[in-house]
Amino acid sequence: MRYQLAPEQIPAAWFNVLPVMPEPLQPPLHPGTKQPVGPDDLAPLFPMALIAQEMSAEPWIDVPGEVLDILRLWRPTPLVRAERLERALGTPARIYYKDESVSPAGSHKPNTAVPQAFYNKAEGVVRIATETGAGQWGSALAFSCAQFDIECMVYMVRASYQQKPYRKILMETWGAHVVPSPVDDPESPGSLGLAISDAVRDAATRDDTHYSLGSVLNHVLLHQTVIGLEAKDQLALAGEERPDVVIGCCGGGSNLGGIALPFVPDADVRLVAVEPSSCPTLTEGIFDYDFGDTAGMTPLLPMYTLGHEFIPPSIHAGGLRYHGDSPIISSLVRCGRMEAIAYPQGKTFEAAVQFARTEGKIPAPETGHAIRAVIDEALAAKETGEERVILFNYSGHGLLDLSAYDDFLNGRLIDG
Ligand SMILES: Cc1ncc(COP(=O)(O)O)c(C=O)c1O
Repeated sequence: MRYQLAPEQIPAAWFNVLPVMPEPLQPPLHPGTKQPVGPDDLAPLFPMALIAQEMSAEPWIDVPGEVLDILRLWRPTPLVRAERLERALGTPARIYYKDESVSPAGSHKPNTAVPQAFYNKAEGVVRIATETGAGQWGSALAFSCAQFDIECMVYMVRASYQQKPYRKILMETWGAHVVPSPVDDPESPGSLGLAISDAVRDAATRDDTHYSLGSVLNHVLLHQTVIGLEAKDQLALAGEERPDVVIGCCGGGSNLGGIALPFVPDADVRLVAVEPSSCPTLTEGIFDYDFGDTAGMTPLLPMYTLGHEFIPPSIHAGGLRYHGDSPIISSLVRCGRMEAIAYPQGKTFEAAVQFARTEGKIPAPETGHAIRAVIDEALAAKETGEERVILFNYSGHGLLDLSAYDDFLNGRLIDG
């Protein structure tokens, strides 16, 4: 069963969680002076409108009409009840997923790429540099820059550049220029932290260029709240008062934040972050100030971190291979408002394949992490005979990740 909203029911304002955080966020610090950063420190990298959103205390922030017009190409996204999965599990739980895979780039990432491109264009920026791991974020930004006629420069983690040519072709089709990272060491397989350093260096050394980040920062999570806001309306259509638990996979925290943050004020809704056990930032990292990139060029952020020099093993869920995490998500976990759980990748592919064989859709390896936790929640409900309502974010499809499924199906997956 699918629950659809009309095109004019896309939320007209984003939900800003900052004023209702259980504990106030600590400010980012300047990498040199170690003092809180001000708007001027960030101006070489970001448009002023996004810097204002990063620090805003307004509970709601209007979505510009031009952004809504582009989001309407695929939004509102469907909310689907996964009845075939429920039946296969024999669970009394009701499982709903928000299908963010229907965007042009195949994931939730365009929800923030579009407004980021919009605000840059509005402030006269003609070129944007960014990094991408497996290519989901780079393709979302490439699509969005094409909408606003902005040049897009993508530093792609070298291992993915070599192994995942289709994502690169997607970005180039939308007009982006894609190079392997790190640029100065052709022997290195690269990492997200190194690619961020390349992109920040590019933006900081050119007057015509800004930098754009696809996760972690407050304004990115803000833009993603359209997911949770729509889901609330759709759950009402399904006759559900509220979910018992909201689940999302967590790399930098943006798809999880998008679905979960509008539920932060609803005290009895459990919120769950799911990460890989090979990159266990929230479950085994320490809470501290750390750099967002490997070279130590970004501001220091208060977050759970495995250390900015940590290079995670090459698991297939490239979007979850990040040493740090969003300060908002980190703070929610630290104060106990959000739970965190980690799984090895073999268990996540088992869940992804069960989902594909029941619901039909083939999930991104990142999304497979959320599905693993959903199945375990549904099985726990079966044990206790509870009618639990489970909501999760189907953050992306896996149609360009089929080599990962090939590895899993043929016993070649390393259980990192
Ligand atoms: C499909 C998908 N899901 C999840 C993620 C993880 O990122 P985030 O935690 O910012 O949602 C990514 C990142 O690339 C992704 O492509």
